[in-house]
Amino acid sequence: MKVYFDNAATTPLRKEVITAMTEVMSSSFGNPSSTHSFGRTAKSYLETSRKGIAKLLGADPQEIIFTSGGTESDNMILHCAVKDLGVQTLITSPIEHHAILHAVDALEHTHKVNIQYVEVYEEGGINLAHLASLLQADTTKKLVSLMHVNNEIGNTIDLHEIGQLCHNHNALFHTDAVQGVGHYTYDLASLPLDFLSAAAHKFHGPKGIGFSFVRKNSGLQPFIYGGSQERGLRAGTESIHNIVGMHSALQIAYKTLAKERSYIVGLKSYFIEQIKMIFPKVQFNGHSDSIEKATYTLVNVSLPISKEKAQLLDFHLDLKGIACSKGSACQSGSSSGSHVLHHIQKGEISEWPSLRFSFSVFNTSKEIDYLIQVLKEFLD
Ligand SMILES: Cc1ncc(COP(=O)(O)O)c(C=O)c1O
Repeated sequence: MKVYFDNAATTPLRKEVITAMTEVMSSSFGNPSSTHSFGRTAKSYLETSRKGIAKLLGADPQEIIFTSGGTESDNMILHCAVKDLGVQTLITSPIEHHAILHAVDALEHTHKVNIQYVEVYEEGGINLAHLASLLQADTTKKLVSLMHVNNEIGNTIDLHEIGQLCHNHNALFHTDAVQGVGHYTYDLASLPLDFLSAAAHKFHGPKGIGFSFVRKNSGLQPFIYGGSQERGLRAGTESIHNIVGMHSALQIAYKTLAKERSYIVGLKSYFIEQIKMIFPKVQFNGHSDSIEKATYTLVNVSLPISKEKAQLLDFHLDLKGIACSKGSACQSGSSSGSHVLHHIQKGEISEWPSLRFSFSVFNTSKEIDYLIQVLKEFLD
């Protein structure tokens, strides 16, 4: 049996998305910048997708800039804010994705930007009083970047509250919503944020495509230089089949959101109930056992297992066909472990093995039963 519980790393494509993409690939190969009929057809796919995505998120089509995914979107916003808007201070948290953390490290060295890290509580929540004090203390031009949904522990933030706080202090606000778009609704017209990053492969769309939401009249200049694609901000021939696939995936995600959300909430609750039965002392990292304070799609657990057994756990699950993640997929294979767990875990629990299980509508409770059975056998 093969079981995929690593949907925070990436999700399987929906059949409808593959159909939409293959149709474009076989019928329309034109370059959307060409003015002849082949180009015009491609352009029409491009702009229909842009309009559709913008509408689903309450944005203006011109505010959607297609990129190669979450990493590029994050880098684009941070680099351009420093390069073009005169941002001198970047405020972020120590539990962001590396697409943010490594980008701010680079900007600190290349542009001498002042980097401030907001304190996070033991469960991974943002200390808003500390954020307010950082915003208050700094008189330079600032940008705050905080992720909507944490990819490792699932914690969510209140975009409205934090965005308002930033704007009250004249700071720009960016959110990495790579784990949120397609799973939560957004009304970008009314949300107090300036920039947002998203990636299609987290909501059953293709890899290598995403977008930046860049609020109108932001003043950003090109991130990638070349042609005048994406209103000059991001040069390069657009990947039409990927863009159409992303639009199709987002349309389905929002059409089916309520139904799929309640199905996945059911899976998460069942998983929590079952894992507690075999590990009464299980530790849920962050707020990942909650569906109010964390995403409904993932649970991150530390398991009370002896050190000797713990070394075999990953191997055993993989052998039994179960795919999950050690904290975060981006870290697997790395000896340094998860920077997020490292930051929030204290004492004995930090020695326990941690696993992230992330669910989608394609999972079933039978798969959870299988996982529990495999874990039970492993313990015996
Ligand atoms: C929160 C978050 N930001 C950024 C990224 C990077 O996105 P991409 O893989 O599309 O570059 C990921 C991917 O895991 C993510 O989870």
